[in-house]
Amino acid sequence: MRRPVAPLAAALGAVLLLAGCGADGSGSPADLSVSAAYMPQPVSDSMAAGFLTLTNEGGTQDELTSVTSDLGEVTVHETAGGVMRKTASLAVPAHGRLVLESGGNHLMFEKLKHRPKEGEKVSVELHFAHSDPVRAELPVKPATYRPSTGH
Ligand code: CU
Repeated sequence: MRRPVAPLAAALGAVLLLAGCGADGSGSPADLSVSAAYMPQPVSDSMAAGFLTLTNEGGTQDELTSVTSDLGEVTVHETAGGVMRKTASLAVPAHGRLVLESGGNHLMFEKLKHRPKEGEKVSVELHFAHSDPVRAELPVKPATYRPSTGH
């Protein structure tokens, strides 16, 4: 009897479809939002750091590829072994988060047009591999500020 073959093939087909979901865009698209954004008031005239959390409520991974701001040049940095370096992109997993936090991944602002003061807001535009750009405002906090909510 060869009967079981058809259901097995159907099951395999379903598995393949699921596996192909994110790659061919048939999953729900990335749905990105920003929270917990801030910039500690910079202690330098030329450099500043920025932090935020990107949440993806969609079923497809996306990647943060670049950031722009009127304040100056922005690069995305990762911290590994206490050393920070520029990164080409950071993944925002499907149904997941990308956290930029003190001591970890962060936005690096350089060649500042001015030194932001506590109470100001710094606008950034986040660019992604697939999604449309997302604008965010980073309120400038005291230099020693640490978010109290944690993760
Ligand atoms: Cu850095």
